[in-house]
Amino acid sequence: MESHHTRTQTSCLTLCCFLLALAPPLSLASRPLPHAPDGATIITASINAAEEEDYSTFSTENPEWKFNHVAVDERNGNVYLGAVNRIYKLSPDLNVQVYHETGPDEDNRKCYPPRIVQPCSEPLSLTNNVNKMLLMDYRENRLLACGSLYQGICKLLRLDDLFKLGEPFHKKEHYLSGVNESGSVFGVIVSYGDSSPDKLFVATAVDGKPEYFPTISSRKLARNSEEDGMFAYVFHDEFVASMIKIPSDTFTIVPDFDIYYVYGFGSGNFVYFLTLQPEMGNGPATGSSSAGREQVYTSKIVRLCKDDTAFNSYVEVPLGCVKGGVEYRLLQAAYLSKAGAILGRSLGVGPDDDVLFTIFSKGQKRRPREASQESALCVFALREINERIKERLQSCYKGEGTLDLAWLKVKDIRCSSALLTIDDNFCGLDMNAPLGVSEMVQGIPLFSDSTDKMTSVIAYVYKNHSLAFVGTKSGRVKKVERVVLREGSRWREWC
Ligand SMILES: *[C@@H]1O[C@H](CO)[C@@H](O)[C@H](O)[C@H]1NC(C)=O
Ligand SMILES: *[C@@H]1O[C@H](CO)[C@@H](O)[C@H](O)[C@H]1NC(C)=O
Repeated sequence: MESHHTRTQTSCLTLCCFLLALAPPLSLASRPLPHAPDGATIITASINAAEEEDYSTFSTENPEWKFNHVAVDERNGNVYLGAVNRIYKLSPDLNVQVYHETGPDEDNRKCYPPRIVQPCSEPLSLTNNVNKMLLMDYRENRLLACGSLYQGICKLLRLDDLFKLGEPFHKKEHYLSGVNESGSVFGVIVSYGDSSPDKLFVATAVDGKPEYFPTISSRKLARNSEEDGMFAYVFHDEFVASMIKIPSDTFTIVPDFDIYYVYGFGSGNFVYFLTLQPEMGNGPATGSSSAGREQVYTSKIVRLCKDDTAFNSYVEVPLGCVKGGVEYRLLQAAYLSKAGAILGRSLGVGPDDDVLFTIFSKGQKRRPREASQESALCVFALREINERIKERLQSCYKGEGTLDLAWLKVKDIRCSSALLTIDDNFCGLDMNAPLGVSEMVQGIPLFSDSTDKMTSVIAYVYKNHSLAFVGTKSGRVKKVERVVLREGSRWREWC
């Protein structure tokens, strides 16, 4: 009993550290208790780093070189941090073991191909390399670290000592996109068993360059880090490819159109990405009135089959959350977890079913600097999202409605009917694809806060309870446990 307790405390602190690392800037101010939602008692605790004695912290040598990503080796607790110009390896108690320099270097984002391949006539200047993607490749004991320099090339680093095993840069498939905003790119490594190689699904904002970068694609993840075919498209011929590009017509309607990939994961036979993207209006914007029109954004979940090399399984569904009549539609962060017995029971799913904890901010207008402080933590049962996708596939294959995906120019194309059985694992045909869903799937709101915007979330199951840890914009961490009972819900202080 005693030892169990100690272990719990350790894992709690470790989790809190991750969130603090992800939520800049770190503030030590104490926080008022958040507003209690209707009919629930809430107790939360914020962790004050200054008062927590056995609390380890870590900061970069240059305070402007922010952390962008964290990856943890589940086997030994080692922590890898992707920052601006640096990749760090930390021990489980957050001592720096080694770091790898990734920048800055002379570059110009207009140089395509990058100047390391071909001389570039654009003026070069010292440019930061912002880490945009940091993935554990357990099978090959390496870290995949992709940056913003040179049109977005990646390094393969040995986990032990961050020794560079490979850095493919001479082919266009090696450039994942030069966008330097963290939170716009997400990758998922998918395994297919011992006999076949893993694949990398990568989804990225394209920063106005849809001709260079597909917004979503699947790539070969070669076992040899120096192999020529690293990151080659899984399939590519004249007509079909394992990728989707944003059509140039979309940019004539919404000039700064882009899709930001906030989170991604694999579950069952599928890979999922959570996106934030501009909503397409009703036709091209014309006249001066359109200039002042404020862009409305929407959050969507994208689903693809792991085995689909032609991307016929592409489906997109809007997600959001409504609490007390207020709409929360702008996705900020998400985390996949198991439901646990108690939350599972109230969601009508099993304890081992996947649930998605999500943070949305209020409304649909995304103005970075003046964005609303109001945010909500919501939960989705993945099973429900899959059910809604299956229903839509079934109705489309009965010939009902349209493909309904404006940014892919298939909004008004009618669904064609075909006699076939669509089950839970249907992966699409070259008809009725890609497919959009117009009706939003609503999450269950757990918690909302109007003063300190929530920006990150992680969750796990402890003794049948689902626990969520939320990081806020001011650098605080909220520990929240939801005990969902028939008669209502309750929040409890924990650890
Ligand atoms: C990202 O790029 C923009 C535009 O080039 C630049 O102003 C900004 O400083 C860059 N961010 C970092 C962290 O270097
Ligand atoms: C968790 O739930 C299961 C099934 O409801 C129950 O048998 C078990 O005792 C619970 N465990 C704890 C630690 O509460």
